[in-house]
Amino acid sequence: MVDFTKGGPASGYFAPLRYEADVYDCEVEGVIPRELDGAFYRVGGEYFYPPIREDDSPFSIDGFISSFRFKNGIVDFKARWIKTPRFLNNLAARKQLYGVYRNPFTHDPSVQHLDKPYLGTVMNTAPIAHHGKLYALKEDAQPFEMDPNTLETLGPWNFNGAYKAQTFSAHPKVDPVTGDMICYGYEATGLCTDDLWIYTVSPKGKVKHEIRIKVPYVSTLHDMVLTQKYLIFPVYGYVTSIERLKAGHLHWAWDQTKPTYWGILRRDGDGKDVRWFKGPTSSVMHTINAYDEGDKVIVDAPISDGNPFPFFPSVDGSPWSPKLAQHTLRRLTFDMSSKADTYQEKILDPQDVVDLARVDDRFLSLPYKYVYSMMADPTKPYDAARAGANNRVVNTYFRYDLSNGQWLKYFVGDVHNLQELSFIPRSATAPEGDGWLIGTASNYAEMRTELVIVDALTMQEQARVILPFRMTPQVHARWYSAQELPLTDKPMPPYKGRVQS
Ligand SMILES: [Fe+2]
Repeated sequence: MVDFTKGGPASGYFAPLRYEADVYDCEVEGVIPRELDGAFYRVGGEYFYPPIREDDSPFSIDGFISSFRFKNGIVDFKARWIKTPRFLNNLAARKQLYGVYRNPFTHDPSVQHLDKPYLGTVMNTAPIAHHGKLYALKEDAQPFEMDPNTLETLGPWNFNGAYKAQTFSAHPKVDPVTGDMICYGYEATGLCTDDLWIYTVSPKGKVKHEIRIKVPYVSTLHDMVLTQKYLIFPVYGYVTSIERLKAGHLHWAWDQTKPTYWGILRRDGDGKDVRWFKGPTSSVMHTINAYDEGDKVIVDAPISDGNPFPFFPSVDGSPWSPKLAQHTLRRLTFDMSSKADTYQEKILDPQDVVDLARVDDRFLSLPYKYVYSMMADPTKPYDAARAGANNRVVNTYFRYDLSNGQWLKYFVGDVHNLQELSFIPRSATAPEGDGWLIGTASNYAEMRTELVIVDALTMQEQARVILPFRMTPQVHARWYSAQELPLTDKPMPPYKGRVQS
């Protein structure tokens, strides 16, 4: 019997579901824009077997992918587990064989594979589409290709052997000018190694450039950003070591004494030109965008001054600080013509924001105007009597105008918690910001998941898709059009049984 009461952090809205799902012709409030022909993919987690330890990171949860397929104003929903070797091994054993977050020393000896830590991946972090293929991503392993229509797991992919790193970031970037995908793996040659290998993949899916560099210290390196000239990698705060893993700890601990390093190197170089700029301790789990301005590199990101995650302990035993975990929108300026190894950091606005910001992806690596993200707006109501107690409710999408500092906000509801949004341009030639925001919200009162579509110019809701059940929250989500993926118009599988005449 599966017992989620021991070691299972999930309860209430977050209790395990343990089923896959198909919903055809979803219930809709409002009118779905008929221009929307594509799918909104969410990758996150859903425990099949509970974790073995209560102190484990939620990032050990089994990978789970879902899609909302839009066509002719109608929406179909689908959800499937991502069938990694770990998931299948657990099903065969009918129990959890794997230990704590990215630590194979804590796995059952039958599945340790210390020289191949990627075999313990749960593939639970992000979707990405490129060269007509859909992948699920987790930064401790190479990507898993997924069928964009059925969401069945097609298996790991190493670009015909040309992608050599053992790992692959959950945040590759697609250059809107060239169509190239920039992807990378840190700890590229095994557990706790300081190798960062960076790849450029052509729009046809061929690896066309590789760069191998070393990092100042082994850290998360969860996200990066690019300009038309440069690749930019933040290294910050989190530390690990083989000794730490052998002692049975989670992969990361936070060290408040570690400086932040930003590595900047030419996209077309061999990595020997990399410069590491040094700044105060901070966390940069996610970036927003970057661009070149003469000899300067401008980088925007939501940044905190300390550990964002309470489940990753500090190295000195100090308690987690909610204040140091708060993110603000910040702009960093790097002067590539200067010999100095420092940079300027400016807080664009003091408001506390969620660090899952997005832009109109047609402006990635280029000068741009709008940042889209989320926040817990304290001026909005929260109905605790109906929704229950939650320590943080993300109730608002916002658009931040970098040209004048103006905010435009959308409030989802008083019993809801929003997840990461995507921006969809109204057409390929629409100006920046003309389109929709799309994303899901947890409705705690009705115990169901809802998807909202918001006009990105007016920040007014256009439609809401209602699922008749709750789906556990995603980590990351993305919209892809039917031009980017080979999506079928017939999501309902054909009936193969007897037909009454
Ligand atoms: Fe992420």
